[in-house]
Amino acid sequence: MKLTEAQLAQLRDEGWIFVPDYFSQEEVDVLKRASDEVFRMKRDEIYLEKDGTPRTAFAVHRLHEAFDILGRHPRLIEPLKQLWGEDLYLHQYKVNAKAKFTGDVWQWHQDYGNWLEKDGMPEPRAMNISVFLDEVFPFNGPLMLIPRSHRHGVLESTKDTQTTSFPLYTQSEETVERLCAEGGLVAPTGRPGSMLMFDGNLVHGSSGNITPFPRKIVYLTVNACSNWIRKPTREEWLAHQDFTPIEMVADDALLELARREAAVA
Ligand code: SIN
Ligand code: MN
Repeated sequence: MKLTEAQLAQLRDEGWIFVPDYFSQEEVDVLKRASDEVFRMKRDEIYLEKDGTPRTAFAVHRLHEAFDILGRHPRLIEPLKQLWGEDLYLHQYKVNAKAKFTGDVWQWHQDYGNWLEKDGMPEPRAMNISVFLDEVFPFNGPLMLIPRSHRHGVLESTKDTQTTSFPLYTQSEETVERLCAEGGLVAPTGRPGSMLMFDGNLVHGSSGNITPFPRKIVYLTVNACSNWIRKPTREEWLAHQDFTPIEMVADDALLELARREAAVA
């Protein structure tokens, strides 16, 4: 799977691309079953909301084969190899649950500012790829992105220790207002299986979910191998230190797993 010229241009100019229905319902079902299993685990990698509902599961490639496969999927990995022309490794890999009724806010932030400060990542040569596991509506806390904000590089930030289960460098209201006046605001919505790719410097956030519709999204952060992190300071499941190049699986690997699961059921 390669990106088109138009997609490459949008990624460069706007900092994001969205592809609806990138994975089939059958492929998403495997991932949804896997996320249910993972969120039942009691482990340090599973962070909770204030009321105890699971918020985020980290390092999910080590917790379930389906996520290991997704983290090596050619539909996600090949486009970035095309973009950077080098080997890649997984810097962070999580599922954000954004539970029905209680899913909480993610403040406005840039990821690269956090990777630079906390992990010592030399360059913004890392990309977020998200795959929707639930339908994302305008009302269940979709991810909001400020187009073109990545062009400003690392912006001034302050440390928020309240709303996330771990400290997050966030952008001020003034900065967000200015960036939105320049670039507008988008909140891609779509069916499960849709894919959203966005630049590590793009300012983004999401509001709480008070609807009966959960909004589960998988996020892979893929880094260029030459851009390995130099000064890790946090838990390994938040910023991986295995810089081994990703070996891709076959395009039908998730379907193959679905067939194997069905055979033993
Ligand atoms: C993130 O910024 O890493 C996640 C935000 C969200 O899932 O809404
Ligand atoms: Mn983020």
